[in-house]
Amino acid sequence: MAEKIVQLAPLLGLIDAPFMNAIAKVGGFDEIFAPYMLADERSIPKPQVITRRFSEIGKHVNLVPQLLSNNANAFVAMANILYDLGYPKVNWNMGCPIKFVVEKGRGAALLRNLQQLERLLDDTISRLKPELSVKIRIGFDSSEEFPGIIDVFNKFKLNELIVHSRTAIQQYSGEPYRQTFIDSAGSSLNPIVYNGDITCAAEANISLPNLKGYMIGRGAISNPHIGLQIKNLPINNAPTFKQFATEITRWYCARNSLNRLKELWKYFAKRFDNPNEVFAKLQTINNSEKFCETVESLF
Ligand SMILES: Cc1cc2nc3c(=O)[nH]c(=O)nc-3n(C[C@H](O)[C@H](O)[C@H](O)COP(=O)(O)O)c2cc1C
Repeated sequence: MAEKIVQLAPLLGLIDAPFMNAIAKVGGFDEIFAPYMLADERSIPKPQVITRRFSEIGKHVNLVPQLLSNNANAFVAMANILYDLGYPKVNWNMGCPIKFVVEKGRGAALLRNLQQLERLLDDTISRLKPELSVKIRIGFDSSEEFPGIIDVFNKFKLNELIVHSRTAIQQYSGEPYRQTFIDSAGSSLNPIVYNGDITCAAEANISLPNLKGYMIGRGAISNPHIGLQIKNLPINNAPTFKQFATEITRWYCARNSLNRLKELWKYFAKRFDNPNEVFAKLQTINNSEKFCETVESLF
């Protein structure tokens, strides 16, 4: 079986330039997905605005931009700008379950009306310059929707179909429908990627001929070596967890972004014997210098 690829999931509000730069140095991740940008017909950003948005991300990061949209013209316009800026592949977010996104008919809402979804894809794909990757949920209300969703995408040629194997109504918690994925994903004519609660290499063991690989989200924050481990590559030459977490902590401390750091440390803390204590200690700190010093003392 061909080697599976490993992708870093987009995590808006958790992962941006410093995390991407640090994890790309660790290695093991073939692609790193950026959190979504809105593609709305009334406000297509100029190329310079997109370049500025990605300006702190290093050249060593193999970045896949993601767009949130329910409008073919807007999606095509922005995806083609991204292609011209050097991104050969763009991801379409059809999985976001957040209320204000779904109410506007974007994200996972696109999975609710499959005829409309087919028309949208039909209107978009022939005009796209980049390869299209799509990220979906296993269903909106129920995982039983999955085979029908796959059938719609089978009518189009995608770079890949990434499946967060929870329903939209589950949001981000509860068990993923891993077995439903295994039972139905084989019918996808497009290469398929599994996503949902992979926290160690042993969990990346799905055997399907059309499985392209795994997308890892929160599991990569507490274990940045997971990509290397899935690929059975040595981790001794990679930056250690201490170096990884310290580099990111220093970056945010230098910019006084303690709220973001506290979010990340909910996951970093899991690496310590006493995670609740570690997190509680950091949560009360409101001074960047003190935060950084405390982190150094933890290791
Ligand atoms: C805080 C947070 C932000 C997220 N932001 C995005 C996003 O911008 N685009 C997207 O497609 N998914 C987003 N997701 C979903 C993740 O990409 C991923 O599908 C989900 O966390 C399941 O993978 P995991 O169990 O490995 O974390 C987000 C999830 C969380 C928890």
